[in-house]
Amino acid sequence: MAKNANLGAAKSAKNDEFYTQYADIQKEVNAYIEYYPDVFRGKTILLPCDDPEWSNFTKFFAQNFEFFGLKKLISTSYAIESKKYKTDWQPTLFETENPIYNVEKSRIKGKIFTLTHDTNNSGRIDIDDLQWSYLEGDGDFRSAEVTALRDEADIIITNPPFSLFREFLAWIMEGKKSLLLIGNMNAITYKEVFPLIKDNKLWLGTTDVRWFYQESTDSPLYEAAHSRWFTNLDHGRRHQPLQLMTMADNIKFSRHKEIKGIGYQHYDNYDAIEVPYTDAIPSDYVECLGVPISFLDKYSPEQFTIIGATESEGKGFSNGLWNPESGVAQALINGERVYKRIFIKANRGGADNQ
Ligand SMILES: C[S@@+](CC[C@H](N)C(=O)[O-])C[C@H]1O[C@@H](n2cnc3c(N)ncnc32)[C@H](O)[C@@H]1O
Repeated sequence: MAKNANLGAAKSAKNDEFYTQYADIQKEVNAYIEYYPDVFRGKTILLPCDDPEWSNFTKFFAQNFEFFGLKKLISTSYAIESKKYKTDWQPTLFETENPIYNVEKSRIKGKIFTLTHDTNNSGRIDIDDLQWSYLEGDGDFRSAEVTALRDEADIIITNPPFSLFREFLAWIMEGKKSLLLIGNMNAITYKEVFPLIKDNKLWLGTTDVRWFYQESTDSPLYEAAHSRWFTNLDHGRRHQPLQLMTMADNIKFSRHKEIKGIGYQHYDNYDAIEVPYTDAIPSDYVECLGVPISFLDKYSPEQFTIIGATESEGKGFSNGLWNPESGVAQALINGERVYKRIFIKANRGGADNQ
């Protein structure tokens, strides 16, 4: 038992140090630029929980500073001594060659990197114009100094430590900021996250992220299945309605054996039908449907309304920790628990009326 707990803690510490590939950031950010080219114009972007010497977020936004029309880019890193996952860290030349470099501070302090103008007179603003200094503390996003940077910023973008995802999201929401974050798909049904999704204050981005690196861009890639972007920046995909078949056509032609020739089951404990695959949602059904959480990859708020969800963390509805508004902690069919479900209803009398 103790051994398992230690293994779990080690795995979670390691996951907190997964770094994001440049191409994954580029693919996702491009979707917002395509939808609204001025999305970042005149804005201050904060990249917290970063480490610009390792991380691609700072690189990507610094390289695109002029193209995006940014006002200011700030990124902060977390002190090496504060990290739970220990590595053979060595300071880079970028750090040691700077006159402010201090061996002790480099271990225990976070750093702040800022980019606002062409500091080296190269004629353009880019990564070589980044200025850095030590923070007062270790760069914990919850500290007063990083919170002041949050308040200064318009948009917060990062892949936060996986183990602190809820706290990180709450920290941004408290500051009422725009955001673009990587998190685990399962976070959707957390009690701190789902109400935001339900109220269209938070939604999924456009791409998934699966492979991360650690320590240096040369490290092997590590798989973290089911990672997604979470955002409140608008993008085109969420305004594209799903193309669906009617219930009768699904029963006749569905590629899913659970549906074809059989039809849809009704939950024992909730007034909705079970739709085990997003592409099997019947376009002409006007009552409540239970769908897998992956539906949110295709969710358009013009086409559907989210009603509720089953709980996800085994805490149960009955102990009052989770109120999914569906009133059911678990959806049951013939007494058997169905995997996590989101309950939705088509707008305007059916999904095909959009
Ligand atoms: C999942 S990694 C992602 C790093 C980088 N944003 C990227 O995606 O390439 C999360 C980073 O947050 C740091 N971190 C952990 N706890 C933190 C905290 N309380 N405050 C700020 N950063 C933290 C970790 O050390 C790690 O560098």
